[in-house]
Amino acid sequence: MAKAMCYSALIVLLIFWLSIGHSEQLQSSQAQTLLRIQRLLNFPALLSSWNNNTDFCNTEPTPSLTVVCYEESITQLHMIGDKNVTPLPHDFSIDSFVTTLVKLPNLKVLTLVSLGLWGPLPGKIARFSSLEILNISSNFLYGAIPQEISTIKSLQTMILDDNNFTGRLPEWLSALSALAVLSLKKNSMNGSLPNSLGSLENLRILVLSNNHFSGEVPDLSSLTNLQVLDLEDNILGPQFPQLANKLVVLVLRKNRFSSGIPAEVGSYYQLQRLDLSFNRFVGPFPPSLLSLPSITYMNIAGNRFTGKLFDNLSCNVELEFVDLSSNLLTGSLPNCLHPDSNDRVVLYARNCLATGDQNQHPFSFCRNEALAVGIIPHRKKRKQASKAVLAFSIIGGIVGGIALVSLIFLLIKRVNSKKTRTSTTRLIAQNASTGYSSKFLSDARYISQAMKMGNLGLPAYRAFSLEELEEATNNFDTSTFIGEGSHGQMYRGQLKDGSLVAIRCLKMKKSHSTQNFMHHIELISKLRHRHLVSALGHCFECYLDDSSVSRIFLIFEYVPNGTLRSRISEGHRRQELTWTQRIAAAIGVAKGIQFLHTGIVPGVFSNNLKITDILLDQNLVAKISSYNLPLLAENMAKVGSGFSSSGSKELSINVRVKHEDKNDIYDFGVILLEVLVGRPLNSRNEVDALKNQLQASITADDAARRRTVDPAIHKGCSDESLKTVIEICIRCLLKDPADRPSVEDVLWNLQFAAQVQDAWRGDYQSSEGSPVSPSQPRLQLIFK
Ligand SMILES: *[C@@H]1O[C@H](CO)[C@@H](O)[C@H](O)[C@H]1NC(C)=O
Ligand SMILES: *[C@@H]1O[C@H](CO)[C@@H](O)[C@H](O)[C@H]1NC(C)=O
Ligand SMILES: *[C@@H]1O[C@H](CO)[C@@H](O)[C@H](O)[C@H]1NC(C)=O
Ligand SMILES: *[C@@H]1O[C@H](CO)[C@@H](O)[C@H](O)[C@H]1NC(C)=O
Ligand SMILES: *[C@@H]1O[C@H](CO)[C@@H](O)[C@H](O)[C@H]1NC(C)=O
Repeated sequence: MAKAMCYSALIVLLIFWLSIGHSEQLQSSQAQTLLRIQRLLNFPALLSSWNNNTDFCNTEPTPSLTVVCYEESITQLHMIGDKNVTPLPHDFSIDSFVTTLVKLPNLKVLTLVSLGLWGPLPGKIARFSSLEILNISSNFLYGAIPQEISTIKSLQTMILDDNNFTGRLPEWLSALSALAVLSLKKNSMNGSLPNSLGSLENLRILVLSNNHFSGEVPDLSSLTNLQVLDLEDNILGPQFPQLANKLVVLVLRKNRFSSGIPAEVGSYYQLQRLDLSFNRFVGPFPPSLLSLPSITYMNIAGNRFTGKLFDNLSCNVELEFVDLSSNLLTGSLPNCLHPDSNDRVVLYARNCLATGDQNQHPFSFCRNEALAVGIIPHRKKRKQASKAVLAFSIIGGIVGGIALVSLIFLLIKRVNSKKTRTSTTRLIAQNASTGYSSKFLSDARYISQAMKMGNLGLPAYRAFSLEELEEATNNFDTSTFIGEGSHGQMYRGQLKDGSLVAIRCLKMKKSHSTQNFMHHIELISKLRHRHLVSALGHCFECYLDDSSVSRIFLIFEYVPNGTLRSRISEGHRRQELTWTQRIAAAIGVAKGIQFLHTGIVPGVFSNNLKITDILLDQNLVAKISSYNLPLLAENMAKVGSGFSSSGSKELSINVRVKHEDKNDIYDFGVILLEVLVGRPLNSRNEVDALKNQLQASITADDAARRRTVDPAIHKGCSDESLKTVIEICIRCLLKDPADRPSVEDVLWNLQFAAQVQDAWRGDYQSSEGSPVSPSQPRLQLIFK
């Protein structure tokens, strides 16, 4: 009887055990491991329910905490902490943590999100030999992705988002042949993407956004399973990536892509989301993309797409969002995009569409810009040419310096002028506004740079002899001395042919041969642009004993008409620039900046621009007189930059390189601000205060706006034009460099302001001052 009782108790127990299904009894060592993890993580609130008696395998899973067991082992562990987590305390050791974690050897899925983990990810994480999914987002891990991970052959998903991993995307990724999802967004990784990426045949999702990756995207056309490619906010480009056609999401936003859209994109039949915004894409926008069968989101804003749109274009009915803003599109807004057609969002401002609303440019603007689009200096030829010239100069310097230089000067002059006429060619995209075919770019024609040079009216860049300079300045007589800045003395000279030049004299601190300076000279020789005080030539003065360089003279064109400040906020009333002239001057400065950034290689950034360094020539053309030449920086003591943004040292290197173009945009904003308010600005506080005032005036009425700006321009400016300039000025002055507009954006807005001002003047012209007489040489050439 007792025996029977005993049996039935056992059976009840057995039934009970069966009834709770697959409940597993965890190995006690693994339970200890979990408790140890709890301790290493400093007992987070998330794990507060864990104690010695917890039956880990049989607790109710929650969205933030889940343990899954199979046959007495943990196979899945999900721990998701608080979003606003801070790093774990100093005594946390990522190494001990991972060492403990890998004692759960059968783990297949591991999620450690927002736990405050910090430190370099230890390579021993690879001891998880059967790990399939790893998600360690939103922690504070840094350093390189450890190579040991390449041995986890079963890994299918690797998500390291929102940490601070650095270094390149490793070549060894191709060893992870099962990888289907790779996501590294919001880290600090850089360098170019490895070609091996193209061999990850199982890859479905590739997200590399918000890093500092640069260079061309490798050929991904063999990734036939790829559905999501998100490269937002890197420095990738210029070519459109080569991809297979199964893509569902393609995001190239905020990179440096500057090609056209290849025809294949029209075959992406599964494409739902296409975001190409804020690149430098050019060429025709194929309207057929609007009718791709799956498309719901299309953003091409902030590029230089051209082409004519027609009323009768068709769009996919599912389309929810379309942003065509800030391109060079002409024609009319397709009927299917009219905002009232359903509740889709359609944006198209700052094109040249015949809509009469949303801030369109006149047709001529898009046509002219389209002609300018795609101008790529043909650098190779140019380089060879300058090398030939340089070779001559080097020989001159080494053999005996000054005397010989003057002897071969004539020869150089001949070679030089010949070269400049033929050496550089530019690619011009013709008929961009009407072209539709994708052949468009290949049909582009070459025209000679010589015409451009001719327009500048400058003699070819050349080497000068010291005698020539002595003669031009009457042996550097004090009467020809203009001023002394941090970068040497400045003299005014008159050459034999009567032309005036400004000569900057740099005393060299270290002894170097001329050869050491040649790469600088090569850069300087390219500094020729309508809106720069252009370089005309150079001259080396060498010590006779060892032929090392004692002084370098840089010869610039002489710009006679004072600084921009002298015509805005310091001059006599009669000399002050009108609103139209001010916009023109601002456009000139912006074009000068654009040239410094993109017109020469390497670009010249962080120029510490000041309004006193903007000079005006006899036709009131604005020219930037001081730029960030490495030659000057290397040899001269640097002088504090006042309140300019380029002095802000707290930015990390990465940020600085990434937004290197935006320092100049800030400085430009300060100049524009002075142009608007008409009085000298002397501190950053003053700038900030005025910026806030202007900000407030934007939403106020016309009268309030006028009160904030220079009374001298009240009468002669149209409200729309004023408002446009105020808006762009404020954006240039934004704190975060990433938020500041590109120089192209600045230019478009200023040109828009100039056009509406023109139209307004045409209609209401009344009492605008006559242009300032061009014949008042005010010698105020200030080089700093
Ligand atoms: C859990 O058990 C260990 C020893 O096995 C003991 O040191 C610890 O105090 C116990 N913790 C709790 C919360 O009971
Ligand atoms: C990683 O895990 C977090 C938390 O569950 C989740 O929000 C995120 O979407 C995961 N990442 C990916 C790419 O699945
Ligand atoms: C990320 O790492 C870089 C280089 O190690 C460092 O300069 C930067 O401050 C880090 N960023 C964050 C958000 O920790
Ligand atoms: C990548 O970043 C590191 C610093 O984190 C830097 O030393 C390296 O030069 C960068 N490489 C490239 C190609 O930008
Ligand atoms: C759309 O209109 C343009 C000109 O108005 C015409 O050339 C074109 O054939 C039309 N296309 C369709 C599909 O009707």
